[in-house]
Amino acid sequence: MTAEGADPYLLPRMGGGSSEDASRRGRAAVVAIDGPAGAGKSTVARALAERLGFSLLDTGAIYRTLALAAVRRGVALADGAALADLAQGLPIAFDGTRVLLADEDVSVLIRAPEVSRDASTVSAHGGVRAALLDIQRRLAARGRVVVEGRDIGTVVLPDAPVKFFLTARPEVRARRRFDELVARGVAVDLDRTLAEIIDRDRRDEERAVAPLRRADDAELVDTSELDLEQVIAHMEAAARGVLDASTFRPS
Ligand code: DC
Repeated sequence: MTAEGADPYLLPRMGGGSSEDASRRGRAAVVAIDGPAGAGKSTVARALAERLGFSLLDTGAIYRTLALAAVRRGVALADGAALADLAQGLPIAFDGTRVLLADEDVSVLIRAPEVSRDASTVSAHGGVRAALLDIQRRLAARGRVVVEGRDIGTVVLPDAPVKFFLTARPEVRARRRFDELVARGVAVDLDRTLAEIIDRDRRDEERAVAPLRRADDAELVDTSELDLEQVIAHMEAAARGVLDASTFRPS
């Protein structure tokens, strides 16, 4: 913990609005985007945050960083109690688009396919999810933020005024994930990517705690046949229609 109530998870470069503004407004200006891997969430969330002038919170990066830290420390991915302990004191911080683990920039490392798989495994433990809840809420508390994850609209920020659930057919999601990894120079196989996506969906949807599902008040957006630009434009208009106009004034 740091002195004077400063947030240890947020380095100065992240965040657009002041937390004072958000708490005075009562209901923080939050756009929650949930959905399975490869639905276009990251791309859409990043673009939407930019257009709204909001910051972006990628909660999957927190689970990924925990998985990386666990493997490095030799903590078994089946040991929920040990993982929850590790999550409790996880030295993670966001610095703009960079993710830091104890001051080391792990932004690229946490995108490796084995980390994707391990993140899904660690995320199934109830103790881990409980431990990471506080970090996520604190990071979102200042408002003016697009929060991307699996259970943001259902569990982490159920009061978010704008919620979307993005999805697409598994084959479409596998192709997108494959193209993305290839563009990043990661050697992958399309069939294997599809198998991994199906496997990860199953684990995320079937886990006992906070399974992946659409919140009742989240808008379902199926991006299989849509151009991501159309999706982003639609979501921007929807968010602007709901959020207070003062939210978008330059701060
Ligand atoms: O969005 P992503 O692929 O970076 O997420 C990695 C894993 O983390 C994913 O398989 C499920 C888990 N996760 C979660 O359980 N809850 C979240 N809010 C975000 C991610």
